[in-house]
Amino acid sequence: MSEPAGPPVPGLARLWTHDPVTAGPYRLVGRLGAGGQGVVYLGEDDAGDRVAVKMVNVDLSDPRARSQFVKEIAAARRVAPFCTAQVLFAEVDGEQPYVVSEFIEGPTLHRQVRESGPLAGNALHRLAVGTVTALAAIHSAGVVHCDLKPDNVVLGRDGPRVIDFGIARALGVTETASSRVMGTTAYMAPERFRNDAVGPPCDVFAWAATIAFAAGGRPPFGNDSLFAVMHRVLHDPPELPPLPPVLDELIRECLAKDPAERPDAERVLVRLLRQGATVTAPLRRESLLEAGNETAGAPTPNHPLPPVPPTAPQPHPTPPTTPQPHPTPPTTPQPHPTPPTTPAPFRAGPTQPAYLPVTEPGVGTGPDGALRRLRREALDAWGISTALFLGSAGAAAGYVASSAIGPAAAVGAVAFVVVYLVRLLVATALGGRPDHG
Ligand SMILES: Nc1ncnc2c1ncn2[C@@H]1O[C@H](COP(=O)(O)OP(=O)(O)O)[C@@H](O)[C@H]1O
Ligand SMILES: [Mg+2]
Repeated sequence: MSEPAGPPVPGLARLWTHDPVTAGPYRLVGRLGAGGQGVVYLGEDDAGDRVAVKMVNVDLSDPRARSQFVKEIAAARRVAPFCTAQVLFAEVDGEQPYVVSEFIEGPTLHRQVRESGPLAGNALHRLAVGTVTALAAIHSAGVVHCDLKPDNVVLGRDGPRVIDFGIARALGVTETASSRVMGTTAYMAPERFRNDAVGPPCDVFAWAATIAFAAGGRPPFGNDSLFAVMHRVLHDPPELPPLPPVLDELIRECLAKDPAERPDAERVLVRLLRQGATVTAPLRRESLLEAGNETAGAPTPNHPLPPVPPTAPQPHPTPPTTPQPHPTPPTTPQPHPTPPTTPAPFRAGPTQPAYLPVTEPGVGTGPDGALRRLRREALDAWGISTALFLGSAGAAAGYVASSAIGPAAAVGAVAFVVVYLVRLLVATALGGRPDHG
């Protein structure tokens, strides 16, 4: 096979004997993977730019199938590039149709969790924000993903990216009877099993199931037999791992059996970014997606913020027959510690979100936040110097007034203590600088 010209790609398999070797302007240099929809190859052009080429199992000789495919891919190309792998183009005229999209280097969420265990804290928050930002962008272009699952999230260097949006619909595989859905049932919303209309709420359901998998290593309705999973999706409450309270509440709402009761992706994003803040000034869609994109790719903070309460109650404990492959108890060391200055978007870690563009009341408020601020302000060099300066000024004024050292020193000391205490109380009450500054 022709070797990739660029750096090696972990997990890239050799081309099989009968695999195609080119796709349009791209040399195919290896197999990235194969799923129900076809085989995905790594392609390189003459300049060394890389793409993912998905050769799709579909017969486009039927004009209706062809026009649906063309229409869905055209819509997928219009999706804004926020936390998504952009669809570049599709070939529909040759014998073998294919879709070319941006190549995202990194493990899929599924592989990451299988190999290194569930995500927590900061990494989980960024995953949730990034994937729901992608969904909001996808939905605002009028596209429905229809196959969101941990295999369709790639953990890139700059944050999570959702891949394969619109392809399921382009291939007309939204109906349950298709064998192509096998393996993805665990992320499918109840309306898909009822043959009801499939719209954005089914992606919101799949998003919640995907995040629950990321946090617990197991989808919320299990992953055993197809019919058992279908039954649980239709009738049972989800079994969720311990989650931060805001995420727990959101995921439960998004897993509602009735699609009309689920919040939409933008609403979920706003709530994740604001984490329940009372200030809810409306953000324009573009700014919202940018905020989500930025939060999802934000580097790990140098000073970790206080840990998320580790033991949210688990109302539906995982049955003992379905072991979680890599449970991450709060005390377990992080599997791949990374130096704090290196952006490491996908480590499990007990930290809070790296960067929240809007007020997050959980940080710096409440009794804990006030205590932290009091401690910080008590040692603030600027505050101490100001009190010392005004204390000396008080002593000098006392000396001028009394010409005696004793009263002057007393005035100075009182001035120092009063200035120090007043500044301390005012700075603590007003909140001062950010906690993690
Ligand atoms: N744009 C992409 N960038 C990087 N890897 C990709 C991309 N698209 C697909 N892949 C890889 O190819 C694999 C197979 O993809 P796919 O055929 O969609 O199957 P599935 O989603 O069912 O796993 C994915 O799991 C992923 O590892
Ligand atoms: Mg895929």
